[in-house]
Amino acid sequence: MVVNDETMGRIRLVKRYLVLTLLISLGFATIALAITERKEEPVRAGESLIIAHRGANDRFNEHTLTAYKIASQDGVDYLEIDLRMTKDGELVAMHDYTIDRTTNGKGKVSGYTLSELKKYQTVSTFENKKVSEEIPSLREIFDEFSDTENFYIETRLVNNQLAMEEKVIELLDEYQLLDDKRVILQSFSTKSLDKISTLAPDIPLTLLFKKGKFDLNKAIATDYPIIGIESNDVTSRIVKKLHGNGKKVHVYFTNKKTQKREQTRLKDLQIDGYFTDYILYTKEL
Ligand code: G3P
Ligand code: CA
Repeated sequence: MVVNDETMGRIRLVKRYLVLTLLISLGFATIALAITERKEEPVRAGESLIIAHRGANDRFNEHTLTAYKIASQDGVDYLEIDLRMTKDGELVAMHDYTIDRTTNGKGKVSGYTLSELKKYQTVSTFENKKVSEEIPSLREIFDEFSDTENFYIETRLVNNQLAMEEKVIELLDEYQLLDDKRVILQSFSTKSLDKISTLAPDIPLTLLFKKGKFDLNKAIATDYPIIGIESNDVTSRIVKKLHGNGKKVHVYFTNKKTQKREQTRLKDLQIDGYFTDYILYTKEL
């Protein structure tokens, strides 16, 4: 076969096209990998963890997929979730005992099945615009975010009984969230934490203290590695004592009006984590 200049030119053109196509595909593959890459366990020496308290609740209804999506886009270390159990034993993201404050319905969460709860909407107003969205189950939150986010989940007793712990651990296991330390569980109830400890011994646990009820001796004496304290109870002495005893200190806030001021007050105390209602402000600090 005679290979003239024109043929050689065509071959070079095809080669360039193939190389270009390969490079573009590699580029897309790298971007796709970066997007879907799971977050590692957050270890940020010298920096505080940013925990999105109930999602980005300053910009959307607390405990909704949208509030968690905004927090995720902001780039936080953990999404914080409060749990309640429905009549049919499903776990949903909800802080209060009833749905009265956050939704257009009334009554105890435990008085509804999940499908009954889904008929109600969380409602709130942001920048003079009313927004609504359904109550998510824990499963739905994991469906949406388990590939990319870390979770900081609060358990509690149900009618003074252990009820949600097994279900939480089952779900964490199902979504492969138990092994790579991407979840912290927190509770005011030592019973609940101890139960979790028996089910999943490696999971980091936070013992929460109620506002005004912080007990330094109890906090030091516990086996839980993280202590959750309301901001008004936090002093430099307490933080140093807890650190000196190998504990991490995570701070939560009960007053949104004073929260930013409180965060500023605490900023040089080496707090290990903030349950923040103002993600962007805390990141700035
Ligand atoms: O989970 C820490 C903090 O959230 C405890 O307060 O009442 O907002 O769940 P609360
Ligand atoms: Ca909570």
